[in-house]
Amino acid sequence: MLSLGIGSSCDETAAAVVRDGREILSSVIASQVDLHRPWGGVVPELASREHLEKIEPIVDEALAEAKVTLRDIDAIAVTQGPGLIGSLLVGVCYAKALAWGLDIPLVGINHIEGHVYSVAFENPQVEYPALALIVSGGHTNIFQIAEEGKYKVVSRTRDDAAGEAFDKVAKMLGLGYPGGPIIEKLALEGDASHVKFPRAKISDGRPDLSFSGLKTAVSRHIKENNIAPLKNGDAPSQVIKDLAASFQKAVVSALVDTLEELATELQPKTLIVAGGVACNLALRDAAEAAAKRLGLPVYFPSKHLSTDNAAMIAAAGYFHLKNGERADPAMTADITLRLQNVDVEPPKGSAKYRL
Ligand code: KG4
Ligand code: ZN
Repeated sequence: MLSLGIGSSCDETAAAVVRDGREILSSVIASQVDLHRPWGGVVPELASREHLEKIEPIVDEALAEAKVTLRDIDAIAVTQGPGLIGSLLVGVCYAKALAWGLDIPLVGINHIEGHVYSVAFENPQVEYPALALIVSGGHTNIFQIAEEGKYKVVSRTRDDAAGEAFDKVAKMLGLGYPGGPIIEKLALEGDASHVKFPRAKISDGRPDLSFSGLKTAVSRHIKENNIAPLKNGDAPSQVIKDLAASFQKAVVSALVDTLEELATELQPKTLIVAGGVACNLALRDAAEAAAKRLGLPVYFPSKHLSTDNAAMIAAAGYFHLKNGERADPAMTADITLRLQNVDVEPPKGSAKYRL
């Protein structure tokens, strides 16, 4: 089955052609990072206008790179949510029109489930039960996946996502946007033991995460030590490099210690670490060390597939299409989609929880 994946949940317009959910024929991404950089974050209105401009050429490019035409495509998978509503709508409307015009099946995919499937390429087949740490700019969750397609959130951030913390700390230090890759680079030359940041304690004892206290601790450290944010062209000082390394270490150990504790308790067969922050080599090294201690395999996406892309959406779509799922003609973008379909009681009077 040849599927066309389409994603436009935030600031990346992406399209990919994937065979049988595991072989990438093409994966094209138009990043809007340069467009949003002057504002230090994504501006939703600008993002949706840019998606509108890019969606058609990006899909055309994905088809051309895969050396196929629309007639060869058997099904379409599109990111339905969560994300920015204006951005999501561009991809969803485009995919619906395309699927309707071609008379082929369409499925709406949860963006976070897409990240789970980003390890479907270049790794052995995932064995279930699996435990997946999904860390991005908008989300930080650990999912217990008892069997393929069955998700239970076993840890979540109570406030900021890990990627968001990287971005905000980078902003405080005048390092630029997005913050994760810049902090990682500076951390390579910094001393991670220089500043000891306390680990957030969750008062109800759940294995949840919290990064807003860490962000405040970094801000306080900057003020107390009179660290001036960089201005354009300044070379970062050793103090900033040490701070970057210490902050990164605090984030990585909170994530990996929690993953390891939950893996010890839940005994999965596979660990998955994915999402934009999974580009970070310190996180990969720590997760690999934990997996070794646990005697488990850990799968990461390649760097290209760690940040938002459409190959992962096509891979997740393949699973749902194989299960016979089809999007209703009334399907639309949904920013409230949550990825949990095990042990969830729908709140009274609300629509049923969906993927
Ligand atoms: O998955 P993604 O592309 O978009 C969302 O769904 O949010 O993740 C983007 C996030 C940003 O916050 C970015 O700073 C972070 O991933 N990120 C990193 C690295 N590369 C990207 N964080 C830490 N280290 C990196 N190397
Ligand atoms: Zn993402």
